[in-house]
Amino acid sequence: MDYQLDLNWPDFIQRYWQKRPVVLKRGFKDFVDPISPDELAGLAMENEVDSRLVSHQDGKWQVSHGPFESYDHLGENNWSLLVQAVDHWHEASAALMRPFRFLPDWRIDDLMISFAVPGGGVGPHLDQYDVFIIQGTGRRRWRVGEKVPMKQHCPHPDLLQVDPFEAIIDEELEPGDILYIPPGFPHEGYSLENAINYSVGFRAPSGRELISGFADYVLSRELGSYRFADPDIQPRDNPAEILPQEIDGIRAMMLEVVNQPEQFNQWFGEFISQSRHELDAAPPEPPYQPDEIYDALHEGDSLTRLGGLRVLQIGQTVFVNGEQVESSQHAALMSMANQQVLNAEALGVALDDPSFLTQLTALVNCGYWFFSEEE
Ligand code: SIN
Ligand code: CO
Repeated sequence: MDYQLDLNWPDFIQRYWQKRPVVLKRGFKDFVDPISPDELAGLAMENEVDSRLVSHQDGKWQVSHGPFESYDHLGENNWSLLVQAVDHWHEASAALMRPFRFLPDWRIDDLMISFAVPGGGVGPHLDQYDVFIIQGTGRRRWRVGEKVPMKQHCPHPDLLQVDPFEAIIDEELEPGDILYIPPGFPHEGYSLENAINYSVGFRAPSGRELISGFADYVLSRELGSYRFADPDIQPRDNPAEILPQEIDGIRAMMLEVVNQPEQFNQWFGEFISQSRHELDAAPPEPPYQPDEIYDALHEGDSLTRLGGLRVLQIGQTVFVNGEQVESSQHAALMSMANQQVLNAEALGVALDDPSFLTQLTALVNCGYWFFSEEE
């Protein structure tokens, strides 16, 4: 399904993005759910899929983690099932993320889908990321509070909540409505009836993640082998003292490793193109030979990108799931990065370049692109 989002993006960014929460009433007109509660429950029975059940009774919260074997123990009220990264496992659901590609791919993370029965929800909480919560089937009351410093607590070891808050948004969402929440605004959603919600989540790396990711890169590439040098070493009264200029020198030396634009770009491309959730990659068996890929594409077949695969571009360099695709076929690389489906026309003359075809074949043989049934 081709979801059409009714949104004036420049206006939205200017007024709300990372600034204020807002309800986009009927953002999707005539909304049709891409998945049923039964299908979602089925996904949460799979080993590789990250899911949890959250329930509460008389103020006591329970959390259990999938995979689930049965749902027979659940009552009719006060629970919800949440499944992460459904875009990796369910193609029809992945289509819901495409209208958000006005925002760059590197910032988008995953699609979390929740099913809640009346009274179900995860309680009042904060998220560190921007999220668009789309209301599917059913009605759910959503409240959002002002962003103020709030203490978080754990009513259950796996559940982080905040205290009750005063609402600046308090609305009953209906199918197709979208609630946008920037990081740090407390919110809670309580179902009024059986309801599905789709959370298109964003990704914003923290300083800690970046430094630790960069440190891994420095080690694996054996960068920064140079050493501190002090040909003009200063005598000092207290031998235990480290002088300010020495601290400055150490900091400058460390920044020098970061300040190598080529290495830095390479690291960031590899780092940010890695998925945070497992991919449903199914390497074809037997693997394809390059000429089979060439023939299939020229016969009109097309290659679809695996759901959740991150393909990102820095300048003319393209990264796929943590690795650079080495090729001088820039136009074809741009198609791979920016188009969901690849055909002979999108790849053009690159298909006649044996080295490009070999790379493409390797990617298909990883299960990152696959031949789709229909055009
Ligand atoms: C939910 O769908 O129940 C939770 C979504 C959220 O609050 O981020
Ligand atoms: Co939330």
